[in-house]
Amino acid sequence: MEFGVWTKGLPALTVECLVLGVFEEAELGTQARSVDTACGGRLKKLLARGDFAGRAGDTLLLADLPGIKASHVLLTGLGPRKQWQRKGWRKAWASALAALNRTRIASCAVALERPDARQLDDYYLGRAVAELTGAALYRVNDLKTGRKPPPPALQQVLAGPVRKAQPAERGLTHGAAVAAAMNVQRDLANLPANICTPIYLAEETRALAKRHPALSVRVLDEAAIRREKMGCLLAVAQGSHQPPRFIVLEYRGTKKEQAPLVLVGKGVTFDSGGISLKDPPGMDEMKFDMSGAAAVIATLTLAAQLRLPLHVVGLVAAVENMPGGKAVKPGDIATSASGQTVEILNTDAEGRLILADALHYARRFHPAAVVDIATLTGACVVALGHHHAGVMGNDEALVHELLEAGRRADDRCWQLPLTEEYAEQLKSNFADFANVGGRDGGAITAATFLAKFTQGLVWVHLDVAGTAYQSGPGKGSTGRPTPLLAEFLLRRAAR
Ligand code: BES
Ligand code: MN
Ligand code: ZN
Repeated sequence: MEFGVWTKGLPALTVECLVLGVFEEAELGTQARSVDTACGGRLKKLLARGDFAGRAGDTLLLADLPGIKASHVLLTGLGPRKQWQRKGWRKAWASALAALNRTRIASCAVALERPDARQLDDYYLGRAVAELTGAALYRVNDLKTGRKPPPPALQQVLAGPVRKAQPAERGLTHGAAVAAAMNVQRDLANLPANICTPIYLAEETRALAKRHPALSVRVLDEAAIRREKMGCLLAVAQGSHQPPRFIVLEYRGTKKEQAPLVLVGKGVTFDSGGISLKDPPGMDEMKFDMSGAAAVIATLTLAAQLRLPLHVVGLVAAVENMPGGKAVKPGDIATSASGQTVEILNTDAEGRLILADALHYARRFHPAAVVDIATLTGACVVALGHHHAGVMGNDEALVHELLEAGRRADDRCWQLPLTEEYAEQLKSNFADFANVGGRDGGAITAATFLAKFTQGLVWVHLDVAGTAYQSGPGKGSTGRPTPLLAEFLLRRAAR
């Protein structure tokens, strides 16, 4: 895919298709007006007839308009003018991409009305153009045996209108990297659990790291994990025939000795619930329970691709959670790498167990900040639905940094409280604490559990159970929260 910006007049542009916006009031956007003039008012006439209503999501493909170089014009609905915002812009461009995907058009220029610069400046315009293009062209790596559909035709996209080319071009580069990283996450997360095992995840990480000299990988096998005394992680893994792996992926983009950012990913390649077995409906979706891990791996490839002047460490705890004769049982007590003991009252609360040991491992890097990413609780989905990830932490400044990164990247999260009262719910009669705290405030008690292992660290937790993948006919990984994590790193790099 080739990205650039357009600067000269639209009628003279030598691309196959001009993508123009129409408001619901049957009003052409500013850019569309210049095209309308060049083609003798054809667009206005079409709107006057009522052929295109400009509703958000609507598109109409026109061909062979006189007076312009492009063979096609694609109209995309912008919705009502007075609500014209960045979100609408994204939707209009995404709808246009979906329509372009059904054609053989290979090059286009985006020329939608711009929301005001506070909503979408040149940099973020470039970024959104490239990111959404990458997302729209993504194809699930499926195992269907029929004839494969032809690869997408679109090869060149020009962004505009821009005030300054340079920030827009920077945005395009970053947006393309974000899209590529999202696709890394999606490819990994969409794989079935019989392929994407902990060992596979480790080998794929090695393969990805080989492409970038600034990335290095260390993989701890079961014996090495045992030497690290990761008793909680091993308790989860013990029921599965798939041995666990602990992956350490390091990116050094600076010669300076710099306290690293550590990203920790939940890599449960399949979560059956273990002895506390889940209900059958939707259990297949628990192959996505390694989405946090996939996002961490993806984000490190982005750091390397953009050569960010940062030191970043990715830690992935990769395990399969299964029932069986050797599986951990409700009431069993495990000793974590931190030395703290945990009564495992519910074997389906396995994510926090593996993260406990991974977060403890993060200490040896003396990190500037630790962010863990996990499809951790159904309770977070109940609380926030599928639009916001949950964010909690022990450092307000870092929480706010992530909230802001999410807003800028259109990959938002929402803070839930993490105050000491919730620790009551984790009391155990037999160990330092239990791994579950009942149904009430389930997303928060899960984070409260993690907080026991992050004392003294600057830490936040992202619960992405509701945002990392979709159910239903569009079932699959969404690539979130990679855009948020990318924005977090880009902003740290610019500090
Ligand atoms: N992986 C699940 C969380 C989850 C649920 C992710 C739904 C996506 C959609 C996690 O391991 C889990 O099973 N959590 C339990 C915790 C409970 C036993 C305290 C849950 O949310 O039900
Ligand atoms: Mn579980
Ligand atoms: Zn899980």
